[in-house]
Order: sequence, then C-alpha cells, then structure tokens
Amino acid sequence: MALDQALIAMARACPSGAVVRDTDILESFSRDESDATPQLPAAVVRVSSTQEVSAVLRAAHEHRVPVTPRAGGTGRVGGAVPVPGGIVLATGGMNRLKGIEESDLLAVVEPGCITGHLHESVEARGLFYPPDPNSLDACALGGNLAANAGGPRAFKYGVTREYVLGMEVVLADGTILQLGRRTVKGVTGYDLTSLMVGSEGTLGVITEATLRLIAKPEAVATLLVFLPDHDTVARAIQQSITKRIVPRCMELLDSVALSIVKPQVGLDVPEGSRAMLLVELDGEAEQLDQIVATCGNTMIDAGALEVLVATSPSERAQLWRARRELSYTLRQQANHKLSEDVVVPRSQMAALLSRCRGLAERHEIVMPTYGHAGDGNLHVNFLWNHEDERPGVDQAIRSLFEEVVTLRGTLSGEHGIGIMKAPYLPLEQSPALIGLQERIKDVFDPRGILNPGKIFPASAKRFHGAC
Ligand code: LAC
Ligand code: ZN
Repeated sequence: MALDQALIAMARACPSGAVVRDTDILESFSRDESDATPQLPAAVVRVSSTQEVSAVLRAAHEHRVPVTPRAGGTGRVGGAVPVPGGIVLATGGMNRLKGIEESDLLAVVEPGCITGHLHESVEARGLFYPPDPNSLDACALGGNLAANAGGPRAFKYGVTREYVLGMEVVLADGTILQLGRRTVKGVTGYDLTSLMVGSEGTLGVITEATLRLIAKPEAVATLLVFLPDHDTVARAIQQSITKRIVPRCMELLDSVALSIVKPQVGLDVPEGSRAMLLVELDGEAEQLDQIVATCGNTMIDAGALEVLVATSPSERAQLWRARRELSYTLRQQANHKLSEDVVVPRSQMAALLSRCRGLAERHEIVMPTYGHAGDGNLHVNFLWNHEDERPGVDQAIRSLFEEVVTLRGTLSGEHGIGIMKAPYLPLEQSPALIGLQERIKDVFDPRGILNPGKIFPASAKRFHGAC
C-alpha cells in the first residue's frame, strides 16, 4: 500500500520512534483548538531536522500521502486537523531558539520554538518581538507564521508578517529553499517570504525563520476604561486615533464578555458600564505619565464613565491573565461555542458592534464579543446549549460575515481560514481570485499533498465535508 511504503521510507529517514501509530497519540493530534471535527491521522511523524522534514515530504510526495504540518496545535480554525489517510508532520520537537543577533536585531528560530520563550529571551536583552497571540505559553512560531498571527499588540506594532525577514522552507517534493533575507532592506525577486506567511501550511513547511526584533519599550502602563455603550467605545477609539495616541493594545470586552470575566479579576465595575477597554501604552518612562494622562482624558471626553490605571506589574499581570484566558473562559459557559474573528475598517466599529447585538437579539443567541477593537478586529462568539439551536447559529454566522463584507471588512484578522471558514471564502473573494490562489498552490504543491482541505471551499468540502 502507498501509505505503508511511505511510512517505511519516513521511518528509515528519521530516528527510531519518530513514526508514531499509537491510537492515544494519534488522538491528541486529531484536533486543534478550534471546534472543527477531529480526524485521526494515519500516523504522526515527529521530525527533528530540516533533512528529516525533506525526506518525509519526499516520501509523501512520491506516494501521494496527505501531510498536515503542525507546530503548537493551538490554531482556531482547524488548520492543523489532518485528513483521513494522511499524516501529521509534527515540528514541535524542532523548538530551538537558534540565536539572537543583537547587532543585526534579529532572532533565528525553529518552528516549534514557543512564542513566549522567544519573548522572554529577547526581552532579557532589552529587545522586543511584538507579536503576542494570547496563547503565547503554548503556541509556537511555526504556527504563528503559518497563520500570520496577530494579537493585542498589533494596534501599534503590526502582525507577525511584519517581523519575518526570511525563512527556510521545505516544499511538498522535499526541495529545501532559503527565502527572504537577513537585511533590513531587500527587494530581490518576488516576496515569497510574505506569501508563505499566512499560507496555513498549504505551500510549504517552515523549518527555520529569521525574525526582526526592535528595542524593548522602556515602560508600560495599562488603563481600564469603562464605557456606557458601544457608540462611546467607537468614539473613544476614533478620538484617540485622531489625537495620534497610539496605544500598543486597545482591547474591548462588550457587556456580555465583561459580565463573564468580572468575577475572575474581582473588578469593581462602575454602575452603568456596558463595555470595557483595556488600553495599554508604552514608551519612554519619562514621557509615559503624560501620554497616560492624555489618553485617559481623551477617553473621558469621548464619554467614558471611569478610567483606572493599573501601574504595578502584579495588577497588569492579573488583568492580562484574565484576558488571555477569555477564550477558554467563554468555552465553559455553554455546551457549544463557535468563535469568529472578523475585521472591519476602524471607522465601521460602531456599525459592527450594533450588527452583532442585532444578530444576538434576532437569533436569541448569547454572543459575548471581545477582541482587538483598536484594529477593528473582533472575536464574536456564539454560545449555545442544545443541538436544535445550531441552524440559528449557522444563519447568524453567515449573516455576520455578509454584514462584515458589506462594511468592507474581512472574514479573518488573525486566525486564518482553515476548515472552519473555507465555506464562506466566496462571500469575500471572487471566483477569479480564489482560482488564482489555487493555481499558486498547484505550482508549490502539484500533487496537492500539503494540508489539503484548508482555505479553499472545494477542497474543504472534499476532505472535511465542510460546506
Ligand atoms: C484572542 C485569541 C483568541 O484574542 O485570538 O484571545
Ligand atoms: Zn485575538
């Protein structure tokens, strides 16, 4: 059988024990942190070097075995869920931080390197790698790059792609390529590094990345802003943009999310609060007090009820712990949860929030909404308990996406398309655009073995039954 022959070749190329077929281990590789239906892979292959990745892919290519690359497995859209008869190529063991090069302001990492580990290591040297998906203790850089992860700090610092200078990547047929550069500038040829970032494991397997670092900001302050309604939220964000205040984070909890998280942080929420913004400012210590004051006043002028400043590291840590765990906390509130990741232009924030409330009322669904409001990027959650509520949820999700596209927004800000959103891609992209991307995929992966069933509606339907 083709699969057996491929596995024999893979086992030969890797240290003993690398090819795993025990059911309990396969089970733990059958899902990610999305609600996509789990799927047992035929095998998990744990790789520990670029040469092994190349050999595994060569065998998979020769025998046409589907391969789903996986680093931390913390994705939110089913990007790491394998397909029947396919293998998981697990890069979690390639977890080295290979170097921090202070004179060139860059770090070189393997794909399994945990993002939080990179943060700690560079910050100990006064350097900074800004992208911070909230799962930073568990997520790995390979997945961050594959999804072009964002997170709260994108408001000031941008998303993962802006910090990727170059990478080593292995194509579906085993070819090893060096993409990009180590220099600050560089415009040689097509920007394939950028293409690879966000390609969700469909174009190649990242085996090493060269990441851009910046100087660590000297001081940080966190503001808690309580607001009476969503129009005030939108106004507060707009006014801070107009005043050129650039917080590193501007995170929203709507009234439903706020009431769920309140007990966790022991927040004394002022009477009449219907939303909270978690605003974080950073900069030079000498100037920060002034910036905090200007930001706080802007919020009050825009109609905020109260602004509290969390100055001590322990207060800040407690707030952020609650924020980082919000997604998991919400999951515990009902039997079922789906979480979306939509973005609208910042000017359309009030419209998006009001359409979410409209959908919650019309479909009678609990919809806690939170996220990166400063970027217009919200995680709109749908909570329900009984199976018979599901058709209403599906309708509400489709309506949400239609509204977002009408507001000139986009279906995903940071989690990607994966399996979960593939059926909706045609709401945003034309058949010609989807077709062009499919042809690009064919060039990189002519046999279609790399992470099949992701991004593209036809392939999601074929491999995962998503429609
Ligand atoms: C967050 C993740 C879910 O913002 O993107 O918490
Ligand atoms: Zn997020």
